[in-house]
Amino acid sequence: MTAPLAPVQASAPRARDTRTELFVRRGLLVVAGASALTAVLAGLTRIGVPLAWGPSVSAIHGPLFVLAVFGTVISLERAVAVARWWSLVAPGAVAAASIAMIAGLGWAPWLATVGALALVGVNAFIVRRQRAPFTWLMLIGSLALAFGNLSWALRVPVFEVIHAWVAFFVLTIVAERLEMSRLTPTPRWAGNALIAVALAFAVVSCTATWIVDVAHRFIGLCMVLIAAWQARFDLARLTVRTQGLARFAALGVLAAAFWLFVTGAVTMLLPMPPAGPLYDAELHGVFVGYVLSMVFAHAPIILPSVAKIALPYHPALLVALCGLHLSVALRVAGDLLPNAALRQAGAIGNALALVAFVVAALWARARAR
Ligand code: HEM
Repeated sequence: MTAPLAPVQASAPRARDTRTELFVRRGLLVVAGASALTAVLAGLTRIGVPLAWGPSVSAIHGPLFVLAVFGTVISLERAVAVARWWSLVAPGAVAAASIAMIAGLGWAPWLATVGALALVGVNAFIVRRQRAPFTWLMLIGSLALAFGNLSWALRVPVFEVIHAWVAFFVLTIVAERLEMSRLTPTPRWAGNALIAVALAFAVVSCTATWIVDVAHRFIGLCMVLIAAWQARFDLARLTVRTQGLARFAALGVLAAAFWLFVTGAVTMLLPMPPAGPLYDAELHGVFVGYVLSMVFAHAPIILPSVAKIALPYHPALLVALCGLHLSVALRVAGDLLPNAALRQAGAIGNALALVAFVVAALWARARAR
């Protein structure tokens, strides 16, 4: 997931990446990785798996995944794209917030808010340099994140800020896809329509709480429309007919769009209580089905550009991707039926798919050597 900015291209390793820069970036990725492990253990505890460490951090499972893991990775990727030392403030503050969260420090949400505001600054800088629909979408997405983090810091419960966080993810990802899809001509009306839906999504997400049923349903409609847009205009429709990495990435993107559509439809038709199976389905359909699938699909592109770590394609990555989607299907089915055993099996499967992806990546690197 990269945004080429004239004259800097995030996707191409740059000669000016100094050793120190690389060290800092890799260090930030290590913090994100450790936060991911903690978040998975916390999530497993919440689904009823008895673990030694999970319980102490189970309450912050959501913020850990959303802010500590993806907040750090996305803001780091933006920082690499603008190639300015100050842009590292955003991932640096979010990574520091992750450590503070795990250590149980009360001011961690404020640090996460500083990180999100720094990301807004980075995205505003990018918009100034390149006014394009995708740069605007990223800016709007980061504003939603900042709003969500600030609300969380002001002690608004997680289930009420969740829509703003979802908006951050969906808008950032769709912006990346819009940018990549420039390789295939997209009608102007389609680009404008996407921006209009995204804007409405962000505004309503930031004003909605779970009590406001109409807003909740509208957010579901926006997700359905964005997923339909991706199914119709995303470059993945073409690259899925190719081979190797391009096909793997396209499968990840299209499967992700499928889950965005399904979750959007569920969100549109059903309410979202502040906990329980429906809450689980509406959150993890997006967070695991959409976000993690996109992460799997783009990891072989992001890692080399951000950390100069090659991740060559190997069919084992596809096995992990299939495992992810199968487990999301089990989890969402378990949530909707409702069937607690199926739901638990699906959630454990989500965690195992993550582990499988890491193993497949290591395997792919070993084979490439
Ligand atoms: C990988 C395996 C995962 C497992 C086992 C897991 C498990 C859970 C469980 C059991 C809940 C509580 C749902 C309820 O109230 O019934 C939950 C909530 C949540 N999860 Fe996950 N989850 C996983 C992945 C993710 C990911 C990837 C994200 C974000 C990118 C995420 C974000 C959240 C959020 C924001 C909440 C709401 C937390 C709250 O209300 O305090 N989860 N998760």
